[in-house]
Amino acid sequence: MEKDFKSMTTSLKEIQSLREQIEDHNYRYYILNDPIISDGEYDILFRALEKLEQNFPDLISSDSPTQRVGNIHLNSFGTLTHRTPMLSLANAMNREELEAFYNRIKKQWDDDSTFTFVGEPKLDGLGVEVIYENGHFIHGSTRGDGYTGEDISLNLRTIRAIPLVLRNHKLRPPKLLEVRGEVFISKLDFEKLNINREKNGDPPFANPRNAAAGSLRQLNPKVTANRPLSIFFYESGIIEGHSFDSHLKFLKALNEWGLPTNPYIEKCVGVNALIQYHEKMESIRNEIPYEIDGTVFKIDHYPIREILGTRSRSPRWAIAGKFQAQQATTIIHEIDVQVGRTGALTPVAKLEPVFVGGVTVTNATLHNQDEIDRKDIRVGDTVIIERAGDVIPKIVKVVTGKRKNNSSPFTIPKQCPVCKHEANRFGDDVVIRCTNVSCLAQLKGHIEHFVSKLALDIDGFGEKIVNQLVDKSIIKKIDDIFTLDIHTIANLDRMGEKSAKNLIESIADAKQTTFARFIYALGIRNVGEHISKVLEKHFLGDLSLFQHATQEELETIDEIGPIVAETVFQFWSDPENISMVNHCLELGISFEKIIVSNKQPLTGITFVFTGSFDQFTRTEAKGMVEQLGGKAAGSVSKKTNFVVAGPGAGSKRTKAESLNISIITEEEFLQMVESF
Ligand code: IVH
Repeated sequence: MEKDFKSMTTSLKEIQSLREQIEDHNYRYYILNDPIISDGEYDILFRALEKLEQNFPDLISSDSPTQRVGNIHLNSFGTLTHRTPMLSLANAMNREELEAFYNRIKKQWDDDSTFTFVGEPKLDGLGVEVIYENGHFIHGSTRGDGYTGEDISLNLRTIRAIPLVLRNHKLRPPKLLEVRGEVFISKLDFEKLNINREKNGDPPFANPRNAAAGSLRQLNPKVTANRPLSIFFYESGIIEGHSFDSHLKFLKALNEWGLPTNPYIEKCVGVNALIQYHEKMESIRNEIPYEIDGTVFKIDHYPIREILGTRSRSPRWAIAGKFQAQQATTIIHEIDVQVGRTGALTPVAKLEPVFVGGVTVTNATLHNQDEIDRKDIRVGDTVIIERAGDVIPKIVKVVTGKRKNNSSPFTIPKQCPVCKHEANRFGDDVVIRCTNVSCLAQLKGHIEHFVSKLALDIDGFGEKIVNQLVDKSIIKKIDDIFTLDIHTIANLDRMGEKSAKNLIESIADAKQTTFARFIYALGIRNVGEHISKVLEKHFLGDLSLFQHATQEELETIDEIGPIVAETVFQFWSDPENISMVNHCLELGISFEKIIVSNKQPLTGITFVFTGSFDQFTRTEAKGMVEQLGGKAAGSVSKKTNFVVAGPGAGSKRTKAESLNISIITEEEFLQMVESF
């Protein structure tokens, strides 16, 4: 007994020493950028700790470095409210706007003092908040709509650059620290991640930001743990037990506590320093190992920040300086025509690979025939392409001077490239569609949609697997997904017993879903993510009620117009769809219970947003309205209650005036929303 106790105390000491060593190496790696051991040596320390903890499971604590990856698979994320809202930043689109920002602040002071700003790169990732209590990681969330975000604690814990325990060397961690930062994936890690995904038959991510977003939204933290996520911290929420009077001092303290900050941050004094910093960052942006899409300038001195205050959505003491979209010249080798699940034929330009803003671009969508005609895009053309933020690369224009004499205009064939059936344009639709409902490309598209993130979210069900399952006639209709077995999948190309087992497990997990996800997964034309949620709210998860609703009944639902009502009705009029859905239910699809929230003061109120806004984006405005039970529509009608008009509002404003609808400003809208 005594011997056991002795060996336990010795082991505890050893465990503590290993944890400290690992944390110290993390600090050297992430903060000092000066590791003193190799990855292999780090792994040895880590495994030694794992082994000791296995022998003494009672000594495992939740913030041991070995406990980053939990063994829990969530069904959905909870929500967390930010105690102080996570604001966004106003933008300066050019030098003049940056100068105007500086002069506004200067004027308010009414003297000639020069201001100290802190210049920071604007990281193109995802804003998150992490909360530490007495130095221990408690939880973390996404920015969400700025007021509430999703609880992604388990995923954030897997990011090695986020300490589970703050360092307590020169500076004691505060009682409470709400710290904010940007999660991102470096350019190099992104390229590697995509190469691996393609090898595994998963679709590649469009850009590092999407990859980071997808990785943070995983319900299984083990998946997140395998994604190369990084973070830099840059602001705080509430801090208790410590006070700062300057941002630079705050950032220094973050480093002291083991929280990484961006190495390109600089002090900028006077307006010229702001301009110079912005120009310098723009000129070196391609050399920086992660994507940045601008600069951020913040007043350094906190008391000045206090006095300047904030607008409802963005502080007056900071601004984001935007970079120009990145352009490059390349050649179109081919124009491929792809067929989607609705039979739409989409032309895609296959480009000579070109490096733009840190990623290699090989494809650009050409949208439709009208777009091709308008820009007169031809095979063999030299073109200028542009990549702005997370937008899919687009072709800006053709360099006609470099066009070959023998080139001819491109026309999308009137024949489906997959099933060779006739393809046509219907009515005034700009899209050309394949007319064959049994077209395999459509079935493939349906399956890809059914398993996608916002639908049933079946992990590992990539394009290459779908192609094989359809081409080998293993899947002939959607519900066949749920009758797949390990043996069949293991026999597919590039699949083994283990990945087959994982896929079958993911399929089984996905059966427990929500009504809205399932409805969205069905891919009913005009029923997107939002309308699926509207239907969920109305039918409270009762599929049979939804199935038997008449067109008139559907039209009485707020936000459901005659077009959606008709396509939904048509969907349920097809016995094949009914049998497919019933079969899914028989095979175990089930829905989470629906909880109806009652704090919805805007129920029945419709807003339309038009023009430009300083303090929120359209999506943010929509989120605010929906959270309070209201809805945001795209066009003005008699059903509209308020039109929120910013500068540049045009026809929507005129229509609202003619219909006598209340037109309010951005400020008035925010006052209304904040009054609840
Ligand atoms: S400070 C009140 N600093 O940009 C200031 N934000 O448009 C709040 N971002 O949601 C943020 N780099 O996700 C700040 N160095 C930086 C940033 C940064 C990127 C993002 C952040 C925020 C958005 C604001």
